[in-house]
Amino acid sequence: MSLLMHTLHVELGERSYPVYIGRDLLADPQLLGGHIAGSQVVIVSNATIAPLYMDRVRAGLGPDKRITEVILPDGEQYKSLATLSDIFDEVMAAGHNRTTTFVALGGGVVGDITGFAAACYQRGVNFIQIPTTLLAQVDSSVGGKTAVNHPLGKNMIGAFHQPVAVLIDTNTLQTLPPRELAAGMAEVIKYGLICDEPFYRWLQQHMHRLLAREEAALAEAIERSCGNKAAVVSVDEREGGLRAILNLGHTFGHAIETAQGYGEWLHGEAVAVGMLLALELSAQRGMIPVAEVAGLRALLQTSGLPVDPPADMTAANFLELMARDKKVVDGRLRLVLLEAIGRACIVDDADERELVELLETSVKD
Ligand code: NAD
Ligand code: GLY
Repeated sequence: MSLLMHTLHVELGERSYPVYIGRDLLADPQLLGGHIAGSQVVIVSNATIAPLYMDRVRAGLGPDKRITEVILPDGEQYKSLATLSDIFDEVMAAGHNRTTTFVALGGGVVGDITGFAAACYQRGVNFIQIPTTLLAQVDSSVGGKTAVNHPLGKNMIGAFHQPVAVLIDTNTLQTLPPRELAAGMAEVIKYGLICDEPFYRWLQQHMHRLLAREEAALAEAIERSCGNKAAVVSVDEREGGLRAILNLGHTFGHAIETAQGYGEWLHGEAVAVGMLLALELSAQRGMIPVAEVAGLRALLQTSGLPVDPPADMTAANFLELMARDKKVVDGRLRLVLLEAIGRACIVDDADERELVELLETSVKD
């Protein structure tokens, strides 16, 4: 029996949608089937996740749908234009029309590429997110950012396209490899840092329960994270202002991911190191106490996340890759820093000298 614990709402006028959080939700026909408008469905998943969960999703769609399954190879390197084209080949060959609904069954890679495919197919069709990693459940499935990577930069080709529903079945986390669970924890910690100090302090106390995959603790962390994300996205859907705080640590993190080659460092691992660098810079500027940097370092280590940049990356590597980031506006790098735990701010006045000081200290650590 399914157990729906929470329903959140992303409030975006006519594009508003529910985020369902609970146990065994996948096969519940009331939830999934209720958000499919026509009779055609495209389920996009990958070769790792489909054998685990595809049957349950098919059951949740009921008997009367015409379903095309598109199974992608597993890996960040397949979040590409070439894979996108493969998806369209299969969907076109199966004759899907504009009433079709795309369903993303998987982590952030499947979610991002499926969302972008849905944004483009016949100029935009409905899609539903069924995220199966912690990272996707707390971040990528909510908010409508969809994209594929380009060899010169991550997520450089994409669109804002909101899902019509997000269905988070917390049970799927039981099969997630520990390293992937830890990577998702980086984004969970991010919400505490940027906008929810009580949640951050809760995480410092309860991380062991999350790592032990205690159902109640996971549901609490997912709900708090999605609630914070929904609140930010409802105010600033297209990242004209506030939404940029969700990128804490991402400018440094994307540099790491690009330098190492997609897939070597997990996104959440790169974000973990990036968040620590952002807090170090905040402390270097006297904005937060140095003790909070040590506190974050300890929490990341407890979570099984890296805290040091890759040994082979120099300050010059970081600066070159960060200059290409999407968050560079008119030649000025925009960074998310903290004024306090739970209060993020955006700065665009970081100069090369202070970044070199920061990065050279961290790279030497
Ligand atoms: P992922 O999608 O690569 O999944 C990680 C691994 O876990 C894969 O091997 C996958 O097959 C496997 N997996 C997934 N669910 C599983 C399960 N329940 N049991 C066993 N194995 C499972 O990685 P991710 O961390 O979920 O997502 C990273 C991607 O998300 C990046 O491309 C990043 O750019 C993107 N992202 C997007 C947003 C956004 O707002 N759109 C936000 C954050 C990250
Ligand atoms: N993950 C950042 C955002 O959704 O804006």
